[in-house]
Amino acid sequence: MDKGTLLEQEIALCQLDDLQEMQTIELSIEERKLFAIRRDNQLYAYWNSCPHLGIPLNWMPDKFLDLDGSLIQCSSHGALFQVDSGECIAGPCAGDHLMQVELRVEDGSYYVAANQPMPAPPINLRAQALADLEDS
Ligand code: FES
Repeated sequence: MDKGTLLEQEIALCQLDDLQEMQTIELSIEERKLFAIRRDNQLYAYWNSCPHLGIPLNWMPDKFLDLDGSLIQCSSHGALFQVDSGECIAGPCAGDHLMQVELRVEDGSYYVAANQPMPAPPINLRAQALADLEDS
């Protein structure tokens, strides 16, 4: 993972009351995406990059949870992650963690904190496959 890129500026995310329990919100920052989930009156946020292949977890906007709505699930190969720790508890990357996004809270408003490392931009498998086809 490329940890050489720093997010330099703080960015407003949302108010706690913008989300219901276990509702998610997405945000794009410099080709990367992150998502946050409200649980037990606080937000947990992760960069949207599966530790298995470095691709986005979701295939539809704001859809990050399993059928029970209790765990984060990768749509590609079904890996399941704890909401509060980002730990993968089942799937091809079991034991790995989602990369946490550091948040700052002030009066119920959440901000993506400045001066934190960002992951490499997500791998675009479709674009890679098309380029490989052109080369062959
Ligand atoms: S890419 Fe997420 S489980 Fe394979």
